[in-house]
Amino acid sequence: ASTLGAAAAQSGRYFGTAIAASRLGDSTYTSISAREFNMVTAENEMKPDATQPNRGQFSFSAGDQIYNWANQRGIKVRGHTLAWHSQQPGWMQSLNGSNLRQAMIDHINGVMAHYKGKLAAWDVVNEAFNEDGSRRSSNLQGTGNDWIEVAFRTARAADPSTKLCYNDYNIENWSYGKTQGVYRMIQDFKSRGVPIDCVGLQTHFTGGSSLPGNFQTTLSSFAALGVDVALTEVDVTNASTSQYAGLTQACMNVARCIGITVWGVRDSDSWRSSESPLLFNSGGGAKSAYTSVLNAL
Ligand code: XIL
Repeated sequence: ASTLGAAAAQSGRYFGTAIAASRLGDSTYTSISAREFNMVTAENEMKPDATQPNRGQFSFSAGDQIYNWANQRGIKVRGHTLAWHSQQPGWMQSLNGSNLRQAMIDHINGVMAHYKGKLAAWDVVNEAFNEDGSRRSSNLQGTGNDWIEVAFRTARAADPSTKLCYNDYNIENWSYGKTQGVYRMIQDFKSRGVPIDCVGLQTHFTGGSSLPGNFQTTLSSFAALGVDVALTEVDVTNASTSQYAGLTQACMNVARCIGITVWGVRDSDSWRSSESPLLFNSGGGAKSAYTSVLNAL
């Protein structure tokens, strides 16, 4: 196959990108995106600050621009994200306790009702762990240790048709505390019947030649708990071709690794643009990392 999406589809997987609504008027950006990818994630437009700027007042215009752009082209969409310590609207940042717990539930219900039946998956909870595997302190964590399972139970009831994912960074190295902390939570959820379908590994790599230790073991270990895994926000310092090839190969080697999403199209579109971490250069040309990924799919 000659595109990332078509190559990934040969094994039943997808290849996606983050999309920014503000760039949908850029024809270089949209032509690469429509050609290469068969999944997209809104880079910011479905986050809590975007979707509920004032309490009880939802705003879906930017998220819908991305959804509609993708849906008109037969491209699927991952939802990102419903409950997170970051990018909360101001009114939510100042809440705590039972008031915040109810606001989280209302937020999940409001956003998921709007997108009901439309999205392939939702990152229900994002980045809830510390590097050592303990829970990250946040206003959400302050509402009680059960906030994550409440978020997932609420999400399942709100839209039973979409896959529910836990998403985080620095959970790629199997010997890392944070990886183990998340692993134990997924194991606990599966053992108690808390609804969860997938783990998203953000995969923001810092370059060099080798992958974080036992990356493939991490993928297969999560999968063995009975969840899908996906690489959800891939970018690699200087787009190391060996790391890009390696992370793609690791996903290909694990049956339940269902897809790979890069966190932007061209280097100039990246939140890490000074590190040139993506598959297309700022002019829109495919980099050597693109070829290494395509060949590994
Ligand atoms: C980033 C976006 O790329 C930026 O545009 C924004 O300013 C901050 O958030 N982990 C995540 C993503 O889950 O939502 C973040 O996206 C990158 C880190």
